Amino acid sequence: MNVLIIGSGGREHALAWKLSRSPRKPKLLVLPGSDAMAALAERLAGDPLDPAAVVKACKERDIDLAVIGPEAPLAAGLADALRGSGIKVFGPGQAAARLESSKAFAKDFLKRHGVPTAAFEVYDDPSRASDAAAELPLPLVVKADGLAAGKGVRVCKTRREAIAAVQDLMLGGTLGDAGKRVVIEECLQGPELSVLVLLDGKTYGLLPAARDHKRLLDGGEGPNTGGMGAYSPVPDADATLLARVDREVLRPVVAGLKSDGFDYRGVLYVGLMLTPQGPKVLEFNVRFGDPETQAILPLLESDFLDVVEACAQGTLERVNLETKPGSSLCVVLASQGYPDKPATGRRITGLDSEPDPNVVVFHAGTRKTTEGWVTSGGRVLNVVATGADLAQAREKAYAAAARIDFEGMQYRRDVAIGVAVRGG
Ligand code: AMP
Ligand code: GLY
Repeated sequence: MNVLIIGSGGREHALAWKLSRSPRKPKLLVLPGSDAMAALAERLAGDPLDPAAVVKACKERDIDLAVIGPEAPLAAGLADALRGSGIKVFGPGQAAARLESSKAFAKDFLKRHGVPTAAFEVYDDPSRASDAAAELPLPLVVKADGLAAGKGVRVCKTRREAIAAVQDLMLGGTLGDAGKRVVIEECLQGPELSVLVLLDGKTYGLLPAARDHKRLLDGGEGPNTGGMGAYSPVPDADATLLARVDREVLRPVVAGLKSDGFDYRGVLYVGLMLTPQGPKVLEFNVRFGDPETQAILPLLESDFLDVVEACAQGTLERVNLETKPGSSLCVVLASQGYPDKPATGRRITGLDSEPDPNVVVFHAGTRKTTEGWVTSGGRVLNVVATGADLAQAREKAYAAAARIDFEGMQYRRDVAIGVAVRGG
């Protein structure tokens, strides 16, 4: 079986790694992939945002199944184009991808289907939005409607910040068209939880819940990033809480997808805030979370190829989603200057010396040169360890992180510490 993975980051490295462990021994290909992924999969050149070109490449290489990693190709309609040409696809079509590519669309979906979420209003007119920012209770949250690679959300504690956020997004054009429309919403409090729901158009299944650490610095300080670490499962998200999430959030969401006519095949990432009033949806992503996926996949016992293929072909009901006991934790090693101006081209040492079989290092932003590995992006490496419990997974992951080095390397020392109640 020929399986193509679309993407090139740490999440896609983890997807390729897990698929490569399938007893069915698929031939893996990746477009465009990374130097690190080349050890697991054959690289194809091409632009994931050009659906016609990807379809052509798939036809030439007899691809049976495509697994789409990032949101941008999904928003560009890649899943529809591939499905239309008879290829099995893990990833929703363009219409359902709007749940991520338009926050206004996602909020409207949540409201129509009675799913708990922050109170909100959508604004196309900058002067009406500025008036709202000047009047609504503080703190408040201003969100760019469109895709913003993690930079579209401003949590504003002061009037000045709120008005500046509206002006920056709607008039300053910081995020281009993505910020022309904004959502202004109530600020929620509580720890966050990432729930990854597998869907095949008929039924759904859950992966173990995870928690991301979005801020750059220890204690939830510093700017928001793509994610600096994650762990799974989440001790405070016990069976009672997960049953409540299922009842109040997931069932109405899945029923809403069906009644709105979406044949959703892939994974829906439901970002929740666990507020004193109960779980509320912060956001949807229409793809695997990054870095949550790097932490979750090592815990999956079932054959991952069976799982993604079942989602793509509508047979998820026949798959037993089994997870291993224990915990998993991912620490992100980032470049100097990340997230604003990451330094690249720094030589990485210590990558070839990992002695612990329960540790795996996924490459997010690296390049292989004749001199060895060098940094090539903001988030550089994901060090993932599994253990009997969270403390053991933590210890192994940090021991492994300490063996790796590059100039200016930064990482959080507090992944899975004190965050169970604080979030951040
Ligand atoms: P999003 O991309 O919508 O998940 O937002 C990114 C991050 O901003 C979330 O993970 C939260 O930490 C924060 N955030 C988003 N919406 C809210 C909200 N209504 N109240 C408080 N924090 C929020
Ligand atoms: N970890 C959050 C995201 O994937 O967007």
